[in-house]
Amino acid sequence: LDVIKINSVDIIIIGSGLAALSLADRLSEHKNVIVLTKTKKNNSNSVRAQGGVAASISESDNWKSHYLDTMIAGCNYNNPAAVELLVKQGPEYLTKWIEQGLSFDRDHLGKLTLGKEGAHMHRRIIHAGGDATGKVIMDFLINRLRDKVKIVEDETVLDLIVEANCCQGVVTSNIYNDLSIYYANHVVLATGGCGGLYNVTSNDETVTGDGIALAYRAGAQLTDLEFIQFHPTMLYTHGKSHGLVSEAVRGEGAILVTEKGRPVMKGVHPLEDLAPRDIVARTIQAQINKGNRVYLDISMINNFKEKFPTITSICEQANVSINNKLLPVAPGAHFSMGGVVTDLTGITTVIGLYAIGEVACTGVHGANRLASNSLLEGIVYSNQLADHLLAIKENQITSIEYKNPVNQFEQLNETNLPTKQEITQMMTAHAGIERTQHGLTYARKWIEQFGVHHNHSQFDLRIVSKEDFGKINMLTTCWLIIMSALERTESRGAHYRKDYPLVVKKWDNKRIIRQKLEFIN
Ligand code: SIN
Repeated sequence: LDVIKINSVDIIIIGSGLAALSLADRLSEHKNVIVLTKTKKNNSNSVRAQGGVAASISESDNWKSHYLDTMIAGCNYNNPAAVELLVKQGPEYLTKWIEQGLSFDRDHLGKLTLGKEGAHMHRRIIHAGGDATGKVIMDFLINRLRDKVKIVEDETVLDLIVEANCCQGVVTSNIYNDLSIYYANHVVLATGGCGGLYNVTSNDETVTGDGIALAYRAGAQLTDLEFIQFHPTMLYTHGKSHGLVSEAVRGEGAILVTEKGRPVMKGVHPLEDLAPRDIVARTIQAQINKGNRVYLDISMINNFKEKFPTITSICEQANVSINNKLLPVAPGAHFSMGGVVTDLTGITTVIGLYAIGEVACTGVHGANRLASNSLLEGIVYSNQLADHLLAIKENQITSIEYKNPVNQFEQLNETNLPTKQEITQMMTAHAGIERTQHGLTYARKWIEQFGVHHNHSQFDLRIVSKEDFGKINMLTTCWLIIMSALERTESRGAHYRKDYPLVVKKWDNKRIIRQKLEFIN
């Protein structure tokens, strides 16, 4: 393999969202760390996060209440230990960042202002810049890391180097298609989720399940991939989504209505517009399927522009006037509850490979994530992994010879890969908010014609273009989601099977694991 550069570091972090940079921040003074990101460091979903970070910091609140809300939203399918850790540790790490200069919104008395979002029994969402929470946190982290950690942009990880179930580095390609090898003692996946697999999404378009595909090819176990959360309210006009309208808007009183002004959530759930996301998203979709348009009525919110500057600017860009007080909305893919199986420190089933943030699955979110728990997950679990890695004395880095897996590339039909649009349309139609055996089977067969699902399929790194490589990852992750959605013959949380609309007891504690056959022992 013609590589132009060979590098050795203690720790490689793949991705540049909140989990990635929070980990880099903790490690930077003690370890030789490099961050690799496939586009620019500002392209993450974290930067886009509006609502905020859930933390039980008000006097009338407590961790147990946050714990219960998380479990209820997750349909009690959550890993209780992971949830307890999340809600107990979260406020501590946030306080540390506040002491270090991170500034969240406060009232005129200097007290943190707490927002409300769906399925929370208390006001506990701390936010910054109104609805620019993710951006403010990411600016804070990027500033702290300046000159401390090397962040390599436009560096796509093509493959994890794994020998005898031990991850020893990565192979990358830059914008000039130059291949590099980075060896490391520890490789951390912090690549985010896969919302970009659907044609309506809140996610950055770069977020298309790369981490899941890389981990699968490396032999790691994956789980809960059938649980994809659809956020109820993307700003939606002319068949296109333009970005997220935060749940915090409904937290301030906005209600979902049809074009005739009929409240959509009335009588559907006791929490009405603030019911768990899966319920609100399905209810809106049912209206859309009937040919109705759904709007968010914001007429009761004073000073909308000041409270929600990011959403105001999304509306302006989409030519939607907030003065009309009705924002056209539709659900869009938002968050993957499943991912790479990890313990509570981010350790995966492959030695030396770790996962944190959305790409990981500790089971913390169960079948449906509670609003504003994702930034919190990034903060808490990056710190868990940092504690673990900081306690390890680094060995000399082993640099095994990396063999291009060209010979295994027999079945992959890369000459006629579909377009990205064809992939997202197929997923939206058949593996989206509502699924059936028939639709999932159709999508499965469609994907299998491209060959990425074969257990031995690999590709020649020298001839696969970066674009095709992205599509191979998309198809791999789609296939894994579809296989899991087919297997779970029930409905639970974000996984809704029209042909099995009820929760089925036998699935209560059953997690579907996906792993390449050759690695299953
Ligand atoms: C939102 O602001 O509605 C999104 C927050 C989240 O997904 O947790």
